[in-house]
Amino acid sequence: MVGSGAREHALVLALSKDPEVVALACAPGNAGTASLAETYGVDAVDAESVVGLAGRWKADLVVIGPEGPLVAGVADAVRAAGFACFGPGADAARIEGSKAFAKDVMTTAGVPTAHSEIVDNPARLDAALARFGPTWVVKDDGLAAGKGVVVTTDVHAARAHAMTLLDDGHPVLLESFLDGPEVSLFCVVDAEGAVVPLLPAQDFKRVGNGDSGPNTGGMGAYAPLPWVPEGLVSDVVTRIIEPVVAEMARRGTPFSGLLYAGLALTSNGPEVIEFNCRFGDPETQSVLALLRSPLSRLLLAAAQGRLAEHPPLEWAEGSAVTVVIAADGYPGRPRTGDTITGAEADGVLHAGTRRRDDGALISAGGRVLAVVGTGDTLPAARDDAYRKVTAVHLPGSHHRTDIALRAINGEIGVPVTN
Ligand code: AMP
Ligand code: GLY
Repeated sequence: MVGSGAREHALVLALSKDPEVVALACAPGNAGTASLAETYGVDAVDAESVVGLAGRWKADLVVIGPEGPLVAGVADAVRAAGFACFGPGADAARIEGSKAFAKDVMTTAGVPTAHSEIVDNPARLDAALARFGPTWVVKDDGLAAGKGVVVTTDVHAARAHAMTLLDDGHPVLLESFLDGPEVSLFCVVDAEGAVVPLLPAQDFKRVGNGDSGPNTGGMGAYAPLPWVPEGLVSDVVTRIIEPVVAEMARRGTPFSGLLYAGLALTSNGPEVIEFNCRFGDPETQSVLALLRSPLSRLLLAAAQGRLAEHPPLEWAEGSAVTVVIAADGYPGRPRTGDTITGAEADGVLHAGTRRRDDGALISAGGRVLAVVGTGDTLPAARDDAYRKVTAVHLPGSHHRTDIALRAINGEIGVPVTN
């Protein structure tokens, strides 16, 4: 397993429960993965080091968690060295690495998405802003971990963000605003074009309750979604995922790995906000908590192009809710080095953590822990998650207290399709 977040901890946890998995190594991992896997201080984007570790381990499967190494071509290097690898090569990872590339694929494939324009010259910015909004969506055309996006009703804030990006030499992507609730749908995909969707989940991108404050990497998630229309998943697979997978193959860059569709359910039906080339964080923590099928077989089948033979996935009844505990200052500059206590419960997954020399668990990143609750119902799963959150102590930390609340209160409305 390559990566170091709570997503990787969730993947390692699921693999550790899989009877077919005999040994696990994690690079670089965190204090949580260290209790389940051998830890190696390998830089995840350093292809040579990752390949070296796979060689020393004679790895049956290398799973790459984050987008950074995928976009950098680490999966290509691992495959070239003869190892099975879960994750797309650099060419296919552009579906996440370049928003302009993703738009081009979607346009060719006839997949519904927001209208967009790229602005790379400050002199053209004001005229372009006038063609969008109100509610402006201003993005960095590159990897930004969800943090390069500003969605605002204030044209001055939109302009200021665009100018910051342009001043840093980054082209700006302006998009029409997609109204409607968001859904994250993860699909395991192989290079032969087979698609296996996982349970739909919802992510909470903004830092504060009621979706206030700046965008983050994700502050919580739940799965499945009680409010989505019947047939949504198969509809999205047919109308969005399969056409994109076919278009990637047609271009000679078939996608193999996890294709993550970030969707808005609009009055025109589901539209794509973004694609990611890997499991989402923190949705994965909720989704994998409910998966009953052995994860290693699924990922290996995808890596080897045998997904069409994989039996249907089995899921636990019930729900899972994930609450992220973030460090003081996140999503700005997080304070690190604080001592964490009470993080021993089942379901407390580590993101930015490490062990100090004296063995104490300390914070080492912005999103520090992801606490997963499960239950027969969504309210029960939510109660379980927040009960575990209460037991954790991290000075200065913050978390949202409204994860899954609107779903439980029946407040999420899907627009009637035109
Ligand atoms: P992204 O990095 O593209 O995932 O954007 C981060 C978040 O910004 C998304 O999860 C949405 O909440 C919001 N967002 C991005 N693009 C749009 C859009 N065109 N319309 C509405 N919301 C958007
Ligand atoms: N959950 C958002 C992401 O993984 O990008």
